[in-house]
Amino acid sequence: MGRNIAVASAPAKAILFGEHFVVYGKPAIATALKRRVRATSTVNDVGKIRVRSVLGYSSVPLSSDPHLYEHDPHRHIIYSAASAMRLLDRQQGVDVLLESDFPYGMGLGASAATSVATIASVASLFGSISKDEVFKLSLEAERLVHRNPSGIDSAVCTYGGLVLFNKDGRIERLDERCSDYSYALHALHFMVVNSGIMKDTGTMVMKVKAREESSKEEFASLAEMSEVITMHALYAIRGRDLARIGELLTLNHMLLRRLGVSNDTLDTIVYRLVKDGAYGAKLTGAGGGGCIISLIDDAKGTTLLSALSSYGYEGFTSSIEDDGVITLD
Ligand code: MEV
Repeated sequence: MGRNIAVASAPAKAILFGEHFVVYGKPAIATALKRRVRATSTVNDVGKIRVRSVLGYSSVPLSSDPHLYEHDPHRHIIYSAASAMRLLDRQQGVDVLLESDFPYGMGLGASAATSVATIASVASLFGSISKDEVFKLSLEAERLVHRNPSGIDSAVCTYGGLVLFNKDGRIERLDERCSDYSYALHALHFMVVNSGIMKDTGTMVMKVKAREESSKEEFASLAEMSEVITMHALYAIRGRDLARIGELLTLNHMLLRRLGVSNDTLDTIVYRLVKDGAYGAKLTGAGGGGCIISLIDDAKGTTLLSALSSYGYEGFTSSIEDDGVITLD
């Protein structure tokens, strides 16, 4: 029983407040963006999991031990496909094609979004799967890539919307918390700018870990500050205070800079965006490269984009994407 082809998509994400410290139990806020990755899965009769994406082509026999493909660029996709089938008690060769309209390795959650979309599409070849199960399997797949992920990327790519990742690991969509947040969500418009520098989340997370181990007191006080900024941001979002949210974004960038995950290019983009009229801006995700997220006035999007291209950078605008993972019939 089942179908021969299934398609699912998952959104990109941007962390607005609290990255890195969320790994150490501090709260964070992240949003889904209006860019998606699409996974098309088809059944094959060669007994292999085969994956094609911009990263290349991989082919492994079914039921391979994950350590046999640990150096494969698609290891988390292979694992995602295998675990979706395991959940539904199936063993079948599948081909997975990944197509994305946002870049990989740029802090926009491509790794979580590709695993979320793969799990949903492979599962719907054989049956159905809940969002909670997609999230759980995606987090397991993320562990293959990043060792110690907080789960925030998988949460946003699965559930969509504006998400608060609580201190106790609870995941909450802010619009489901109270109507003030639902109204506020429509007021937020972002510009995402690509620094052009590829980053590696695992390496940046390990760098922060080394910092935590070597300067415990300083790290603890930076973590406290991150929490305070995130909590203030919650109030500012609820009150639709765009100027304040922007200020807090830029403050969060300075904190991440102090943590050692920014660089001159990222600082320069933040500086230029704010100078050109954004409410605020910061690096998003692991840092070291990747993207900058800024809060903008919707009407200024076009002017800001052309200012950016005159500096040699590319970007796109987005509001909050409501939908998380979607399975297409
Ligand atoms: C990566 O998008 C966000 C980090 O906080 C790592 C994590 O939360 O797993 C840097």
